Amino acid sequence: MQARPYLRKIKIDWDTVEDTNAYPFAIPAIRSMDEIEFHPDVTFLVGENGAGKSTLIEAIAMSMGFSAEGGTKNVRLQSADDISNLAEHLRLEKSFKRPRDGYFLRAESFYNVATYMDTTGYLGGYGGMSLHARSHGEAFFSTLTDKLRGNGLYIFDEPEAALSPNRQMAALTAIHRLVQAESQFIIATHSPILMAYPRAKILLLNDDGITEVAYDETEHYNVTKDFLINYPAMLRYLLDDDA
Ligand SMILES: Nc1ncnc2c1ncn2[C@@H]1O[C@H](COP(=O)(O)OP(=O)(O)OP(=O)(O)O)[C@@H](O)[C@H]1O
Ligand SMILES: [Mg+2]
Repeated sequence: MQARPYLRKIKIDWDTVEDTNAYPFAIPAIRSMDEIEFHPDVTFLVGENGAGKSTLIEAIAMSMGFSAEGGTKNVRLQSADDISNLAEHLRLEKSFKRPRDGYFLRAESFYNVATYMDTTGYLGGYGGMSLHARSHGEAFFSTLTDKLRGNGLYIFDEPEAALSPNRQMAALTAIHRLVQAESQFIIATHSPILMAYPRAKILLLNDDGITEVAYDETEHYNVTKDFLINYPAMLRYLLDDDA
């Protein structure tokens, strides 16, 4: 039996759900969610805005012992007040082997985690410098390259939010290095660069539920490609003029 994935499968224990018409169970992708099987290396969650990626990834992170705001398992923040109760109804199948490292990275509340790191003086793992003394992207990137040690379970929600295209490519290198060091990633993303990572499966959340898709079948890949190759025509169409 393989040590990875650390988190193998999840499913919703529907018998324990009281109101299936309430948030978050009414979200179409969640409502029709069957068992999810994770890739040993990287699992991407993709889909439209509002498809349920953050809701699902938060619940996964909380079930694995992370605080809803993000950070390492030692970070305890109380300010995430709109957390769904999905975690209470998730059933997890884990590996016999536990990850030795972990990080839950949320673009939305990374700033709060940075403040926490500053006030607790817990900066050893971030190159010894306040995360606020760096740009948003630099702070994110130093978390990825200096903080994460391997043999870990890393859960990221839109890590690309702060990163330039060059840094997104560099993030692929960093992710690959950690995968080679026995790590598992679960990443919600809109980035056609990140989701190109080959040792991965891509799960699409939409009204039909959660299904696996190939990279070049994703809307992210096709829409971005079409736009860049033919942006003057796309702009004429979108802006509805001949300028
Ligand atoms: N606290 C809440 N109460 C009720 N509905 C909520 C709550 N939080 C989110 N929702 C709804 O749940 C749905 C899924 O939201 P979620 O944040 O998981 O989407 P997402 O896939 O992460 O989108 P994005 O790509 O924009 O980050 C949305 O329709 C959202 O409006
Ligand atoms: Mg989201």
